[in-house]
Amino acid sequence: MSQSDTHAEHGDTVLGALRPEARVEPESGIISIFNYGRDREGLIPLWVGQGDMPTPKFIYDTTVQSLAAGETFYTYQRGIPEVRQALADYHEGLYRRPFDVENLFVTASGMQAMQIAIQAIAGAGDEVVLSSPAWTNYPAPLRLAGVRPREVPMTFSNGRWNLDLDRFFGAVNERTRAIFVNTPSNPLGTVMSADEMLAIRDFCRERGIWLVADEVYSRFYFGPGSSEGALPPSFLDICDPEERFLAVNTFSKNWAMTGWRVGWLMAPKSMGQVIENLIQYNTSGVAQFMQRACVTALQEGDHFIAQQVAQAREGRDIVCQALRTVPGVQFEEPEGAFYLFFSVDGSGDTEQFARRMVDEIAVGVAPGTAFGPGGEGFMRLCFARSADSLREAVGRMTEWLPSQSR
Ligand SMILES: Cc1ncc(COP(=O)(O)O)c(C=O)c1O
Repeated sequence: MSQSDTHAEHGDTVLGALRPEARVEPESGIISIFNYGRDREGLIPLWVGQGDMPTPKFIYDTTVQSLAAGETFYTYQRGIPEVRQALADYHEGLYRRPFDVENLFVTASGMQAMQIAIQAIAGAGDEVVLSSPAWTNYPAPLRLAGVRPREVPMTFSNGRWNLDLDRFFGAVNERTRAIFVNTPSNPLGTVMSADEMLAIRDFCRERGIWLVADEVYSRFYFGPGSSEGALPPSFLDICDPEERFLAVNTFSKNWAMTGWRVGWLMAPKSMGQVIENLIQYNTSGVAQFMQRACVTALQEGDHFIAQQVAQAREGRDIVCQALRTVPGVQFEEPEGAFYLFFSVDGSGDTEQFARRMVDEIAVGVAPGTAFGPGGEGFMRLCFARSADSLREAVGRMTEWLPSQSR
C-alpha cells in the first residue's frame, strides 16, 4: 500500500469520526468562487461583501497608539467600557432615544455576534425561521448547532422580491425558537417596510419566540429621505430592549473594517452574565487595542461613512443603468446594502456561470445558489467600489452577457 493510500484511509477514518453536522456542512458558495479566482490577473472582485477602501488612518492610528502603550493584555469580556459607551452614544445619535451600555456587548465580528445569539437561544432539535435568499452564514451556523433552519423562499416577479408573511409565519411551529430577519438584505438589497416589521414583532410577541435582527447595512440606504440622512425602518425603533429581541451588528461595513473582525450584539440586560460567559467560552473577548479603534470609528467616523455611502450610491447607479440595458437580465433596484442580485435568462448552473465569468471576462460575482433556495439563476454583485472599476466590470459584462442568455 502506498503512503498516499494510507493517508486517504486515515482521512476517511478521521472524517468518519467527526460530528455529522461538521462533516457534511458544505463550503460557502461565496468563498468557493473567491478561492477559484482570487489570484487571476486583472480580475475585478465583486464577489465578497466589502468595498475597496482600506480602514482609514484616523481609525487605525488609535490601535497603533494602544499597542505602543502596551495595551496587550486580557480585557473586559463584554467590551471595554469606552466602546460600550461609544456604542450607546452612537445609537442614541441615530435613533434619537437613550440606549444603555448594559444592553451592548462587543463581539469578535458580526458573525460571532450571530453565533452567540444562536448559542444563547437555540440548540439541537430546535428550529429557526428565516426568509431565503439569505446570507449564507445564517443557515450554516444554525445547522452546525443542530438547529434546523426553516428557509421560506421569497418570490421574484415583475422585477420585485416579495415575502409572503402568511407563509413565513406558517413555518413557525412548536419547535421554533426564533425568527431571523436581515434588512437591508444581503443579498437582495431590499428593505423591509415598517408595517412588515410591526407584523413580525407582534407575531414573535404573540408566540413568545425570539426576534433576531441583522441591520448591519442600515447606513447603506438609498430609499426615501436617505439623501437627507433618513435611515431605513428599524426593529430598534419598535422593539423593547428588554424583550426577546437580539440585534447583531458589525464594524466591518460602515468603517471599512472587514478584516478586523469586530462586531456587537444588543440584548436584554438580564442576559448580561450569560453573554459574558458565552464570550468567555468562545473567544474570551476582543483585543483591547482593536477596541480602541472602534471607539474612534464610532465617535469620529461619520464623515467616512458618508463617503462610503456616496460611493455605493454612485456604484449602484452605474451597475443598474448598465445592466438594465442587457436583454434577459432582471433585478430589483437595491434600496439598501451594497449588492445587486440579478438574474440572467438561461444562465443554467449559477456556480458554473460565475466560474465562466471569472475565466472569460475576469469579473468575480457570487452565485445566487450560495444564498439558499430562491437564489437559482441569480448572481450577486457587490457595488461598494470605485466608479472606474465598476464601469470596467459592467462594460465587460454588457458585452459578454447577451451571448450567454438563451
Ligand atoms: C447580513 C450580514 N450580517 C452580518 C455580517 C457579518 O459581518 P462580519 O462577520 O464581517 O462582522 C455580514 C457580512 O457580510 C452580512 O452580510
